Amino acid sequence: MILVTGGAGFIGANFVLDWAATTDEPVVNLDALTYAGNLESLASLQGNPRHTFVKGDITDRALLDRLLAEHRPRAIVHFAAESHVDRSIHGPGDFIRTNVNGTFTLLEAARAHWLSLTGDDKANFRFHHVSTDEVYGSLSATAPAFTETHPYEPNSPYSASKAASDHLVRAWFHTYGLPVVTTNCSNNYGPYHFPEKLIPLMIVNALAGKPLPVYGDGQQVRDWLYVKDHCSAIREVLARGALGETYNVGGWNEKPNLEIVHTVCALLDELRPDPAGSYKRLITFVTDRPGHDRRYAIDARKLERELGWTPAETFETGIRKTVQWYLDHADWVANVQSGNYRDWVSKQYGA
Ligand code: NAD
Ligand code: DAU
Repeated sequence: MILVTGGAGFIGANFVLDWAATTDEPVVNLDALTYAGNLESLASLQGNPRHTFVKGDITDRALLDRLLAEHRPRAIVHFAAESHVDRSIHGPGDFIRTNVNGTFTLLEAARAHWLSLTGDDKANFRFHHVSTDEVYGSLSATAPAFTETHPYEPNSPYSASKAASDHLVRAWFHTYGLPVVTTNCSNNYGPYHFPEKLIPLMIVNALAGKPLPVYGDGQQVRDWLYVKDHCSAIREVLARGALGETYNVGGWNEKPNLEIVHTVCALLDELRPDPAGSYKRLITFVTDRPGHDRRYAIDARKLERELGWTPAETFETGIRKTVQWYLDHADWVANVQSGNYRDWVSKQYGA
């Protein structure tokens, strides 16, 4: 079995759902259920004996030791993090606690577990660290995309905390031999994305007739990847990635933010037309994010060359599926917006 951390968040939940759909291997899902954790995203796994949810914190070493001793996972896939750049600017403390101290605690627990294994179990154990392209900093308009050897130049408290966690993972490989792999991925989008991030925020605000806040001039560039493609890349690297290596994951879909917002509006105009006129009328330019990185772009050729991974979705197919998903899941959105999703655990599973 595998242990996933942060599996009630956006990417973790997609990963756990895909894992349950594509393998028979059980998953233990450890998540602290912060504001970003939503068990409603995993409702389809209720009663599935191959999914065990544990509410708990990755900074809790005693809990980690207990879980590892009880379940003896063959791999840990580490998603748990504070992930929102704007929140990291308002309050960096949680980012240091979870992303740095939490990753440290998990690495130490993983190391003790790995040392307790023998033979093939020890040789085949993996610690997969899920990280971000933001650790590489910001690119000029014409610079080549980030490769795995690009210097680390994080600019926000979020990206600095993720960079620190990447360095810890690297050091645990070089110093202790812990069998690690790391993936650094570009911006994800897709189902179950918390509507604090650009794409889901634009969809839910548009449907509610609220302003669509675009930071600064809206010409910052991100490289977008459909979340299921990120999940398939992680499965590939977990299965066949070389120990101690990092792999960039991206969709070759560089787009300025304003173009993303226009695309979302055009899809909504087609799929859920508003009698008041195009959703583009709601676009509102607001004060820029402090220290806003201008451009990210991922060179994912190493992953393609060495492991044969390529994304299944283009931006056009992925964004259409995403907008349709939000239209089809008004209850999920309403529960997130009302805060009712936080009652889901007690409603669904009892006290
Ligand atoms: P998210 O914020 O949606 O989910 C994070 C999950 O971690 C939540 O379920 C939360 O409850 C849990 N969590 C937070 N602190 C915890 C703690 N101390 N102990 C246990 N669980 C805790 O994040 P996401 O967008 O799904 O990102 C998942 C991972 O992927 C993160 O490590 C992030 O840095 C990385 N990443 C995200 C993107 C993206 O575009 N979203 C891109 C590249 C990499
Ligand atoms: O690049 C990978 C990263 O992508 C992940 O590591 C992070 O966890 C994830 O949150 C994401 O970070 P970004 O800061 O790029 O994502 P966000 O959706 O917050 O913003 C995307 C772009 O849109 C960014 O340039 C800021 C802008 N933006 C965002 C919001 C929420 C706006 O213009 N208006 C908004 O309201």
